[in-house]
Amino acid sequence: MTAPEISPPLDAILQEIKATAALPLAQAKTLPREAYADEDYFTFERDNIFKKDWMCLAHVSQLKTPGSYIALDLFDEPLLVIRDRQGIVRVLSRVCAHRAIDIMPDDDAFPREGEARLLVCPYHKWVYELDGTLRGCTQMHNAEGFDKADWKLSEFRSEVWNGFVFVNFDGNAMPLAEQYADFDRDIAPWNVADMEIAIELEWECDFNWKVMVENWMESYHHIGTHAATLNVNMPGELTWSEPEHPYFLHAHLPYTDKLRGELRASQAGGPAVPGFKWIEGLSETQAFEWGLFTGFPCFMFLTTHDRALWYRLLPVAADRCLLLTTTLVSKEAKDAPDYQEALASETEMPNTFHSEDMVMNAAVQRGLRSSKVVRGRLSHLEEPVWLIQRYLAARADGRYPEKANRAPYHGPRAMQAAE
Ligand code: FES
Ligand SMILES: [Fe+2]
Repeated sequence: MTAPEISPPLDAILQEIKATAALPLAQAKTLPREAYADEDYFTFERDNIFKKDWMCLAHVSQLKTPGSYIALDLFDEPLLVIRDRQGIVRVLSRVCAHRAIDIMPDDDAFPREGEARLLVCPYHKWVYELDGTLRGCTQMHNAEGFDKADWKLSEFRSEVWNGFVFVNFDGNAMPLAEQYADFDRDIAPWNVADMEIAIELEWECDFNWKVMVENWMESYHHIGTHAATLNVNMPGELTWSEPEHPYFLHAHLPYTDKLRGELRASQAGGPAVPGFKWIEGLSETQAFEWGLFTGFPCFMFLTTHDRALWYRLLPVAADRCLLLTTTLVSKEAKDAPDYQEALASETEMPNTFHSEDMVMNAAVQRGLRSSKVVRGRLSHLEEPVWLIQRYLAARADGRYPEKANRAPYHGPRAMQAAE
């Protein structure tokens, strides 16, 4: 009888990730499969990455009125993202201050989103205000020294950045305004805080969260996965990445000259190109490309000339995550006379290309489970995959990557400045 296969100890996995990330881009290769499939490593990521960094949970357009809420679960924390009566968006724990029950049990009577007047625990009817303070509890008058002012729903540290609600579980992360200051500058014209989610779809994913983020950030795969769809207007070989940043990734996916010409002509009154009213104030580069971003670890954001896409990714296990894909449009686009028509025609697009990605991502995870799994080499077009490795390696040491002070390796700006 042969001995059971045992996953290498966590330390060996971390050493291998660091050794891989230390290779220069021209020698880059994929991470060991344990980085995507080992539960001990996933637990390490949970405690040292997801709980220490910022996780995006919602956009303010999902929480318009006092009492509007989204209930979700992340790393055994039942959470409630809610706008209180003062208009403050908070991330509360759903754990009741009485007997620790989740105040929104898994039942149709407790919808995962909606609008609440008060938060009522169904077990013994303790009643909480929208900010988590305890407003009332019955039959507690004989409990010695009990003061309801001492009891409330716990709150997690949260911040709203560009309209996105983020949580930081351990409470020690650097404020988002500092971490994402450069990110903020790159997306300023979109005014994302004022945008609204127009289209959203939920997906259950049988693959590691990094399989999704890598797929999101590298556009080399347009050549294969999206050959008949995205690659027509945004060929994979044109993609390029900004130099390394400690807190986010930024890659560019320029449009073809053909699409650029069609969009210019439509702006000048020529034949209409499907889509929403354009975002105003974009630079030439911003208007004629998809801007791909990931705020570490997994805030996925994308800009185009007429919309933004946001993917909310919630890691569940080494080989499982939950995904919400959304399309955001400006208020001006929503008010445009042809908005409903544009919405009808554009709802299919993100569904189509994301379905293509989902097939590939699930197939990647199957390959990672195989005895024939490989450590393949990376193309220069996969620079974001290499940058993700470098983020993971830095976080394994409790650091962030250094901000690179040089021109991009590839793409239109590559030759503009010396290294
Ligand atoms: S557990 Fe919530 S009121 Fe008793
Ligand atoms: Fe894709």
